[in-house]
Amino acid sequence: MSVPVKSIGIVGARGYVGGELVRLIASHPHLEIAFVSSRSTAGEEVAVHVNGAPAGLKFSSLEAPDVAASPADVVILALPNGEAHRYVAEIDASERPDRVIVDVSADYRFDDSWVYGQPERFRETIRGATRISNPGCYATAAQLAIAPMVDALNGPATVFAVSGYSGAGATPSDKNNPEILRDNLLPYSLTGHIHEREVARHVGHPVHFLPHVAPFFRGISVTVSLPLADAMTIDEMAQRYERAYGSEPLIQLTGAKPPLVRDIADQHHVSIGGWCVSEAPARAVAIATIDNLLKGAATQALQNVNLACGFDELEGIANG
Ligand SMILES: NC(=O)c1ccc[n+]([C@@H]2O[C@H](COP(=O)([O-])OP(=O)(O)OC[C@H]3O[C@@H](n4cnc5c(N)ncnc54)[C@H](OP(=O)(O)O)[C@@H]3O)[C@@H](O)[C@H]2O)c1
Repeated sequence: MSVPVKSIGIVGARGYVGGELVRLIASHPHLEIAFVSSRSTAGEEVAVHVNGAPAGLKFSSLEAPDVAASPADVVILALPNGEAHRYVAEIDASERPDRVIVDVSADYRFDDSWVYGQPERFRETIRGATRISNPGCYATAAQLAIAPMVDALNGPATVFAVSGYSGAGATPSDKNNPEILRDNLLPYSLTGHIHEREVARHVGHPVHFLPHVAPFFRGISVTVSLPLADAMTIDEMAQRYERAYGSEPLIQLTGAKPPLVRDIADQHHVSIGGWCVSEAPARAVAIATIDNLLKGAATQALQNVNLACGFDELEGIANG
């Protein structure tokens, strides 16, 4: 049976996440690009900025009403936090409000009228959805590392996280300034980071989140310390992750061997492993690594588009 082609537009396509999306969608068999929008590069060839972009494709600068009037069946918003609402409002008010929107910012991750797009945990709710909030990059790694253990915890999970500087986006800031990052590790937002609230909300358990930026470009390593009600063996811990993720194509379990951040760059999956336990106090530790721009953003967004459109979930995603 032939699968109908859907047209897709990307707003914020000049950014790091937008670029990854253009590259992935260009080789998707059932998606065709309706537009790629950027204000600063409007009129320029996308291929000049994004390796793997289709020849002849150009950026255009579309305001929210232009996006709503476009023929796109699917719109991905890859904008800074706080910018999505006006695009959503225009599409809501348009003649085709039932189009699929995937927002990669944090703007709808706390909104119950949107579906939270973490396929390995909430796959069935994403199928056929039209408003999907893509999880954060740190939040994806942290929640996948915590979720299989949540019923065994007797206190907040602590998440020590280190991100490459592409996590801060392409717009210049201290967190992607090579001079500040050189030979350095930059702690920031050590209380109240938005991903702390996001993980706590979506795993249903309190989390203490300690983010840092490092001088490498892409990839995140999160080390999760889990206080346990009762001591657990390494085998019991490993079985929990195997039960939760053993059949997931985009989660690789590394067992007692800790996953390393340099191995996850350019990969579509999350690696989880490095199990450690202690008896007194009863505690377990797990490590997760993720490419923040792929499974932490673009790959997960494409999984969500595929589920929303009824395509195979991994269509257009080479299994990394
Ligand atoms: N980087 C990551 O690892 C990562 C991971 C997961 C989620 N996210 C989230 O994904 C979103 C995009 O992140 P990014 O890293 O790709 O950011 P980025 O590199 O800074 O790109 C932001 C994009 O948004 C456009 N833009 C900026 N301000 C805008 C405005 N006021 N109105 C319309 N367009 C605007 C920019 O293009 P023009 O200025 O040319 O229009 C650019 O294309 C953010 O919400 C971020 O939190 C990022």
